[in-house]
Amino acid sequence: VTDSRRAEEAVRTSEELLRTVLHALPVAVWILDEEGQVLSRNPAGSKIWGEDPAPGGLKEIARYKGWWPDTGKRLKSREWSAFRAIRKGATVLGEVVDIESLDGRRKTISNSAVPLHSANGEIRGAIILAEDITERASVQKALRYSNTLLESSRKELRTLTAHLDLEVEEERRQIAQELHDQLGQSLIASKIALNMLGMGKPEHDRLRDQIGEIINLIDQTIQSVKRIALGLRPFVLDHLGLVAAIESEMHKFEERTGISWVSYLPQTESVQLAPVTSMSLFRIFEEALSNIQKHARATQVIVRLESGAGRLLLEVHDNGKGIDDARILAPDSLGISGMRERVGRLGGDLCIETNDCGGTSVIVSLPLEAGRHGQTQTNTD
Ligand SMILES: Nc1ncnc2c1ncn2[C@@H]1O[C@H](COP(=O)(O)OP(=O)(O)OP(=O)(O)O)[C@@H](O)[C@H]1O
Ligand SMILES: [Mg+2]
Repeated sequence: VTDSRRAEEAVRTSEELLRTVLHALPVAVWILDEEGQVLSRNPAGSKIWGEDPAPGGLKEIARYKGWWPDTGKRLKSREWSAFRAIRKGATVLGEVVDIESLDGRRKTISNSAVPLHSANGEIRGAIILAEDITERASVQKALRYSNTLLESSRKELRTLTAHLDLEVEEERRQIAQELHDQLGQSLIASKIALNMLGMGKPEHDRLRDQIGEIINLIDQTIQSVKRIALGLRPFVLDHLGLVAAIESEMHKFEERTGISWVSYLPQTESVQLAPVTSMSLFRIFEEALSNIQKHARATQVIVRLESGAGRLLLEVHDNGKGIDDARILAPDSLGISGMRERVGRLGGDLCIETNDCGGTSVIVSLPLEAGRHGQTQTNTD
C-alpha cells in the first residue's frame, strides 16, 4: 500500500512540475493524444489562438484558419503541423504560418510539432509548440521592403550618373568643337586680315606697331582657345585612340610636374574599344595622374596597358608616399568613388593599394566583352 501511495505521489509531483513548467513557458505548448485531443496546454497557447471552448481534435482542425505566407493559400487540414506529426510521424520545426485566431485577430506564428511514440513505436500523440512572431515578421517585411527600395534607388542613381556622364562628355565635345571651328577660324581670319592690312604699308609707324601687337594678341588667343578645347575634350583620344592619348597625356604630365615616366603600352590598338569604354578609361587615367600630382610626392610613374585572357588591364603605379587604406573607401574620396563608379559601369574591378615601392598602384581590370562592341577605332564621331 505504501509503495503504490508513494508511486501515486511521485506521479502527482511530476505532473505538478510539468504544469508549473508549462505555465511559466512563454512559448505556447499543447500536448495532444493520438486523436489530437488536448491532454495538456499552457496559457501562452490561449494567448496566441484565443480560448477554444470546444477543442475537437484533428477531426475539427478545419476550424482553425491559417495561410501559407509565401502563397497566401489557406492551409488544408492535413497540412497543419499537428496533423502531420500525429498521422505521419513528421517532425516540423519553426514553420511560419499566418493565422486568424479564434477571436478574429491576424497573426504570424512559428509552429513546431514533434510526434510522441509509445514503447512499441506507435504514435500516441504529439507535442505542439507555437510562438507569436507577428512583430518580428512585420519588422522583417518592412526591412525587406526598404531594402528593395534602397536597391532600386541605387540602381536609378547609377543609371542617372551614367546618363549625366554621357551628356557631360557630349556637351564638352560640342563646346570643344565649336571653340575650334568657330572661334578658332574667326581668329585665324582676323589674323590674315590684319596681316594684309600691315602689308599695305600704312603711313604711320604707330599704326603698324599696333597691328603687330594685335596680331600677337590674336596668336596668344588662338593658343588659349586650343588649350581650352583640348582640356575639354581629348582630341587625341577621339582621333588616335587610347594608347596615343595615354602617351600624349604622359608627356604633358612630365612637362607639368617634372615626374618621369615609363610606359608599357601595346604598339597599336590591339584591342578595339567602344568609345564609352576608352573615354571612361581615359578619365580614370587622368584622375590617377591628378592624384599622383596632388598627393603622392612621387618621382616616377609606371603605366601599363595590356590585354589577355579576355580582360583589359590598365595599371598606374607611382613611387610616392603610398595611400592610407581608410582613404580608399572613404565616402568623401570623390575622385576615387568616381573611378570605382566608372569601372563598375563597365563591369570591371578597381583595385587601389600600396605597392612594393611603398607608392600607390591603381589597377583597372575590365572584361573585354564589355569594352569591345565591334567598333573599328576609339573614335566617337
Ligand atoms: N597616388 C596617391 N598617393 C597618395 N595618396 C593618394 C593617392 N591617390 C589618392 N590618395 C589619397 O586618397 C585621397 C582620396 O583621393 P580622391 O581622388 O578621392 O580625392 P582628392 O584627390 O583628394 O579630391 P578630388 O579627386 O575630388 O579632387 C586623397 O585625398 C589622398 O589622400
Ligand atoms: Mg583626386
